[in-house]
Parts: sequence; C-alpha cells; structure tokens
Amino acid sequence: MAVKSCVAMLIPLALLLLAGSSSVVAQLELDYYSKTCPNVEAIVREEMQKIISAAPSLAGPLLRLHFHDCFVRGCDASVLLNSTEGNLAERDAKPNKSLRGFGSVDRVKAKLEAACPNTVSCADVLTLMARDAVVLAKGPFWPVALGRRDGKVSSATEAADQLPPAFGDIPLLTKIFASKGLDLKDLVVLSGAHTLGTAHCPSFANRLYNFSSAYGADPSLDSEYADRLRIRCKRVDDKAMLSEMDPGSYKTFDTGYYRNVAKRRGLFQSDAALLTDASTREYVQRIATGKFDDVFFKDFSESMIKMGNVGVLTGVDGEIRKKCYIVN
Ligand code: HEM
Repeated sequence: MAVKSCVAMLIPLALLLLAGSSSVVAQLELDYYSKTCPNVEAIVREEMQKIISAAPSLAGPLLRLHFHDCFVRGCDASVLLNSTEGNLAERDAKPNKSLRGFGSVDRVKAKLEAACPNTVSCADVLTLMARDAVVLAKGPFWPVALGRRDGKVSSATEAADQLPPAFGDIPLLTKIFASKGLDLKDLVVLSGAHTLGTAHCPSFANRLYNFSSAYGADPSLDSEYADRLRIRCKRVDDKAMLSEMDPGSYKTFDTGYYRNVAKRRGLFQSDAALLTDASTREYVQRIATGKFDDVFFKDFSESMIKMGNVGVLTGVDGEIRKKCYIVN
C-alpha cells in the first residue's frame, strides 16, 4: 500500500485517539514513555518478531489475551495474574482455560524490565503485543496510546460472568459489549479477529450433535461443513482436537472470516448470530465480497483502539507490576 494512503488512514485513527469522548482516553498518551522508556515500542516489536517467526500460531492467542483482559476489569493485565491461596484468578476461569501466550508476555516484559525497570505496565505490554501480533499476521497497524496501569485484583468468577459465551446471540452479545462501552459495529468488526487462530471442540461441537434437526446439527451451520467438523470432533467434550477458525489462513489476518460467516461456516453460534441482525449481516456480506479489505482494516483498528481504552487504570491507580503474573 502506498505510504500516502497509509498516512491518510492513520490521521483519523490519531484523531479518534485524541478526541475520544471519555476522559479516560485523554489520560493515555501516544508518547507516554518518551522520557522514561523511549524504546518501548521497538523492544516489544523486536521480541514479537522473534516470537511470531518461531511460532506464527501465537498471533491469535496473544490477540485473544488482550481481549479477555479488557473485558474483565478493563485492560489492566488482571488476566495475567496467577491464582493464589484463597483466590482463583481470571486465567483459571473456564472460558480462559484455552488462553495461551502467557510465557511470551513474560519474555517481553523481562526485556522491558532490563531496559527500563519498574516503568512499563503489563497492561501496556499486552496491548502493544496484541497490535504487533496483528501487524505480523499481515493485518493493519494502529497507534497505541499508553499509560495503562496494572490491577491488583483478578477473579475467576468475574471472568466467567463477563466474557461473552460462544453460544451468545445478538441480544446477549450486544448487552455484554455495551457494558464495556462497545457497540454493535464493534461487535461485528472485532469478531473479525476470528480470522486468526484455532478452537477446541467444546467451544462449538454442541452445534454438531445437540440440536433437534437431522443428525442433531445446528440448522444455521452449513451441513457440509458440519460433516467435516464431525470428523474432527467425535464428541462434544473432545478436548484434544483443534479446528482452524478460518481454515487455510488461520495465521493470516484477512477478511476470510467474513466469507466463512457469509457461507454459514462461522464456527461459533456467536459468529453465526451476525447473520441474524440486519446491520451486522450487511457488514458481513459487504466485507465478504473481498472488495473492502481496507474498510475492515480501518474499522478493526478503530475498534481495537476503543477496546484498548476499556476501564483502564491511570495516574496513581493500580501499580506497575515487576512480573506480570504476580502483584508487587
Ligand atoms: C463476540 C464475542 C466472542 C466470542 C463469543 C468469542 C469466543 C471465542 C471462543 C469460544 C474461542 C475458542 C476458544 C477455544 O476453544 O480454544 C475464541 C477464540 C479466539 N478469539 Fe474469540 N470470541 C469473541 C470475540 C473475540 C474478540 C473481540 C477477539 C479479539 C479482538 C477475539 C479473538 C479470538 C482469537 C484470536 C481466538 C483464537 C485463539 C487461539 O488461537 O488460541 N474473539 N473466541
């Protein structure tokens, strides 16, 4: 893409960052670490290049970690904390059992501690890693405002209650997203993250076996695709098998997800649900044409910026954790 059009894309994003209506947005700054850790972005990028070139399939998990962080207590790295005696932490909640990438976060944080001790929060590290994961998977770049601080509380119960379930329909998903300040457009756009990564059978195999139609399949799932998935998932609780969510290009950030959903081949009920609302269906069908990849990339960047601002701690709230898995 020409440098000029790249710049043209970044200007509205920068404006979105600066002119956000929430006062929280204003407290995060693009050059937050310019004096205290000027190379923060370069350090994260360099480590991420090593991580993703060694294990390209980690791009999805690292993006998902950031999403699961932001949806519970805001983007405060609470998802990274280990359980302690007497407290079951978010990462041990059922929907988080399939999260991966914690070791990579620790690795990047260690590099930053060596360069700028006690300075860069784990919440900012995770936000930058998610952005770089998308870029390295050939997706869009967006500017990340920084200055998030790390929370000291992490609760498995909150994670189980607040994360959107794979069986979610539009009313439920809309409600959950709205509770984080995100709208229906953010829902259909951010769901496009399912162009990356894999899923375990228990996340979708109820759609193959537990419905009352022929073979027990969910009628909103393409029947040929259901047959194929049944070969991989012999039982609903088959935990060993993984399925690519965007078969054939699950390590590449592209618009394949929308083509799958448009063909009734979205893996989760939450993906299929996007065809049941007129405005989300229209978006899916438009992006599925393959003629509007740039629109999706711009929309995804904007929604990721919004998600990265959810419930952030700033100023004197929280702390800068030394190690991401334990409070100071
Ligand atoms: C709309 C509501 C959403 C629901 C119900 C949902 C649900 C799920 C489920 C059930 C999995 C599979 C877990 C497994 O079986 O291993 C998954 C994977 C994934 N999700 Fe979502 N998700 C949603 C939104 C998002 C958002 C907003 C993002 C990021 C912006 C995201 C990024 C991902 C990624 C990248 C993976 C693949 C992870 C891997 O490869 O291990 N999801 N999601």
